[in-house]
Amino acid sequence: MGKGKPRVFVASTFLPEVCSEFAEVFDLTFAAEASDASGPLNELTTLSEEGMRFDGVLFSLDVAMRSEQIAGLPESVSFLATYSVGTDHIDLELARANGLAVFNTPGVLADSVAENAIFLMLGAARRATESIELIRGRSWPGWNPTQLVGVQLSGRTLGIVGMGDIGERIAARGAALGMKVLYHNRRALPASHLHGEGYRATAAALVEDSDVLMLACPSTEETRGLVNEALLSVAKPDLLVVNIARGDVVEDDALIAALASNRIRGAGLDVFAGEPAVDPRYFDLPNVFMMPHIGSSTIEARLGMGRILIEGVSRFTAGEDAPNRVV
Ligand code: GLV
Repeated sequence: MGKGKPRVFVASTFLPEVCSEFAEVFDLTFAAEASDASGPLNELTTLSEEGMRFDGVLFSLDVAMRSEQIAGLPESVSFLATYSVGTDHIDLELARANGLAVFNTPGVLADSVAENAIFLMLGAARRATESIELIRGRSWPGWNPTQLVGVQLSGRTLGIVGMGDIGERIAARGAALGMKVLYHNRRALPASHLHGEGYRATAAALVEDSDVLMLACPSTEETRGLVNEALLSVAKPDLLVVNIARGDVVEDDALIAALASNRIRGAGLDVFAGEPAVDPRYFDLPNVFMMPHIGSSTIEARLGMGRILIEGVSRFTAGEDAPNRVV
């Protein structure tokens, strides 16, 4: 890497205030707003062939970094900085093999995502989709005691899959709502990390004991398709499934069948397999409360995400280790 600011190709679109902070430490080249169909990384190749030299690429979940894209990166690129905590859009093994450093945004978005998780849980519990349709459809006949009866969360059990930064914050908020909190993780956490949450060694054991199944795990080989017919077959009829993780942690056929037949009570979903192409069957289910992947979409998280990438890359360029270096 040469002297001066690292030269960074910006392949996704960021808030102006985030870009201003990036511009203080990086020499930025932005992908054209309406990139041609071949995508922003082809533009990076073209600019490099024309003699521009880039040290790194800043991007987010909307830009895949799989084998084809990594293989096509100019040789000068030594780091990839993804504006996301998830890294499932990146071939990390290939990045490692190619000597690329990869940075992500852990921690800084955990409070925002946890708040969204609670929002989805409450929305599913209180039948928000039907309520919004009733009042915004101007068809509300007025209060009556049988209308839109939901469930109270206090006294119920919240079962969290994935007890990382986000899972822990959801646990604290669930406890504040008066919920008993259980979790399933690859391994049980030391007691010093917990506030009385109970561990379940398998997802099935967690579901059996839960009123809310909260998915807060990364998408990995072990978690993809975790919520399937077999898992849902052990659920209580009142179960609410909340997914703030990744769409592919759920098998849509199984979840939709369980929701459509009222085998389970409802779902709150922020993420979908094949986003933004949401499985259209979800739109016909009144017991589904959905958001378009807005978990970290708060100004606080957005600024924090930019800053942690700046910090990680700056340490890297100074030859130091960074806690948000994934590879
Ligand atoms: C959002 O889903 C993220 O991975 O940051």
